[in-house]
Amino acid sequence: MAVPLKPNQSLNGPPVAYDAELERVEIELLLEGVFRHYGFDFRSYAYASIRRRLWKRIESEQLQSISELQALVLHDAAAMERLLLDLSVSVTAMFRDPGFYEVFRTDVVPLLRTYPFIRIWHAGCSTGEEVYSTAIVLEEEGLLDRTRIYATDINDVVLQEARGGIFPLNRMQEYTENYIRAGGRKSFSEYYTAKYDGALFSPSLTRNVVFSQHNLVTDRSFSEFNVIFCRNVLIYFDRDLQNRVHSLFYESLVMFGILAMGSKESLRFSEYEACYELLHPREKLYRKVD
Ligand SMILES: C[S@@+](CC[C@H](N)C(=O)[O-])C[C@H]1O[C@@H](n2cnc3c(N)ncnc32)[C@H](O)[C@@H]1O
Repeated sequence: MAVPLKPNQSLNGPPVAYDAELERVEIELLLEGVFRHYGFDFRSYAYASIRRRLWKRIESEQLQSISELQALVLHDAAAMERLLLDLSVSVTAMFRDPGFYEVFRTDVVPLLRTYPFIRIWHAGCSTGEEVYSTAIVLEEEGLLDRTRIYATDINDVVLQEARGGIFPLNRMQEYTENYIRAGGRKSFSEYYTAKYDGALFSPSLTRNVVFSQHNLVTDRSFSEFNVIFCRNVLIYFDRDLQNRVHSLFYESLVMFGILAMGSKESLRFSEYEACYELLHPREKLYRKVD
């Protein structure tokens, strides 16, 4: 039986005596309800991570149980939006893993030069820092004008921020260091103007970018791409769901197209491993060859 929380009891997980089996039932019911009512499908996300995030939301909403959270989010779309922000972990950074962008510049850009027109998909782009980073590299390499970037995420709130192109000023020192380590060619401050506590990035960087909502779990492929970035997204999915998303990426990549994954992710053990060659093991860059 679910045991109510004592007042002020802090939650990093369920209360001590919360029944583990019942907890799983409640979580499955909540995820099913969210899917059927709102269309957001978190049913195949990694359980431990979903569980932790649900309890965090329960604490913030000052509730006692998963069932109470279910009732709240099903009847209150604003509560669902808050839960969506928790479930869809939006942590990101400009030139995140600088070595990755360095290798992108040295190993991928020369391949892209061979195409008259380049299509790139940033899947799970969050607030857009990754997209602006790629746009900066392509601008410096003289390729941005012949590139179209589709930047998508499940979450419309983060996409709004991405469109705005204003990032916290207090992160600019970290981003400048990342940019230099990534092999940046200019002074990083040339790309933004400081405004109050924000850094407004040059709108010309997104002149060929389309930001749009797309759910990797339920939506289909919408074009053919030369490069797909999907970094630090699949890590939250279970293996079946990862395979489904890999099928979507495989369909969406041109032959010899590039798949860029996050540092903790890999195609190893996926059903699609044999369809790709490993272009750069450390930076998790793959090339479709079959
Ligand atoms: C940790 S962020 C990664 C951001 C960026 N790619 C990076 O590596 O810095 C994960 C993003 O994946 C998005 N996401 C989670 N599930 C998704 C889904 N089913 N379809 C599309 N995006 C999803 C989240 O909303 C979040 O913005």
